[in-house]
Amino acid sequence: MVERLNLTDDYSISRVINGCWQLSVGHSIKSQLDKEDIMKAFTMLVERGFTTFDCADIYTGAEEFLGEFSERLKQITSINDKQIQIHTKYVPDKDKLGNIKFEDTKTIITRSLTRLKKDTLDLVQFHWWDYEADGMLDTLAHLERLKEEGYIRNLALTNFDTEHIAMIQAANFKIVSCQTQYSLLDRRPEKGFVDYCQAQGITQLCYGTLAGGLISERYIGVDDVDPDNRSQVKYKQIIEEGIGWDNYQNVLVILKTIADKHKVDLPQVAVRYILDRKGVGATIIGTRSSRHVLANEKIFSFKLDDDDISKIELFLAKTKILAGDCYELERSDPKFKSIIKTNLNKEK
Ligand SMILES: NC(=O)c1ccc[n+]([C@@H]2O[C@H](COP(=O)([O-])OP(=O)(O)OC[C@H]3O[C@@H](n4cnc5c(N)ncnc54)[C@H](OP(=O)(O)O)[C@@H]3O)[C@@H](O)[C@H]2O)c1
Repeated sequence: MVERLNLTDDYSISRVINGCWQLSVGHSIKSQLDKEDIMKAFTMLVERGFTTFDCADIYTGAEEFLGEFSERLKQITSINDKQIQIHTKYVPDKDKLGNIKFEDTKTIITRSLTRLKKDTLDLVQFHWWDYEADGMLDTLAHLERLKEEGYIRNLALTNFDTEHIAMIQAANFKIVSCQTQYSLLDRRPEKGFVDYCQAQGITQLCYGTLAGGLISERYIGVDDVDPDNRSQVKYKQIIEEGIGWDNYQNVLVILKTIADKHKVDLPQVAVRYILDRKGVGATIIGTRSSRHVLANEKIFSFKLDDDDISKIELFLAKTKILAGDCYELERSDPKFKSIIKTNLNKEK
């Protein structure tokens, strides 16, 4: 059974969310997507209880794809669109920050509703590229107003740090969750961010738990990787700047030993470990084919015991944690910044 979580009293999600960045134009570098196979994967996932999806206004083509999927789901199953949850994001272009009017926000939110073929957005995650730019709280207030007007059901954040989430809390917004990178390779949230959010009732929805597929048996013994897609470009950088390639290889071997003991696959151990961390509500796993659907069901078929957890933690305690708070390197370090696209709303 896929575990579920009540994010609020009347809003429940699956604890593994189907991530849709992988569907966006430009995510793939080498491999091609098979649209029919992804429709099949999504149907299989929903039928098995993975009912929650994650996309964004800037994942070009993903909201439209999910809109089409919801329609198709009604036609080919007895499941209707009220039984699935679709989380999107509001990521104003960096060029526009400081000059965003209510009508600009409303245009983007209405566009998401049209693309997703919905009357209300289940959950909108707000991203802000630059803390130095004016208008962060004012723009969040636009979303709050749209929530009051019925366009949005739940308000959430993505890629914030402790200082700025505290600023948002001080302004009395009702934030239910924050989407944060949190994995065996990126433990920045443990520096204080998760504790703060937990105390405030803000749940973590975590990405990066499989490092774009690099956390897999497939990469044991591999000296280097030529990234297949933009996730892998990003997580290769996280490995190199953080625990380093040798320790990444050591982590894979530890995970493989634990996976063999529980008769599951290595990625399921990596996801289970993060799902069991305090403050974590769900992990988001990128879906770009039907290949892993059955494997991902196994995440809920076993428990990690104390011995497994101490094996992982004793090893991680000897490795480097990335510098700064959540998403700080991505905002400040030229190497990290250089691989991030910040004006995607302009793209068709
Ligand atoms: N807020 C943000 O800034 C942000 C940033 C990144 C991602 N996200 C969200 O998080 C989602 C996840 O993206 P991510 O980049 O972090 O990728 P990820 O979930 O760490 O990795 C996804 C890849 O893992 C592989 N995989 C999935 N299940 C597997 C299994 N059971 N066994 C082995 N491999 C498996 C697949 O690779 P193959 O297809 O190669 O096998 C898949 O494409 C995105 O779709 C998006 O919704 C948000």
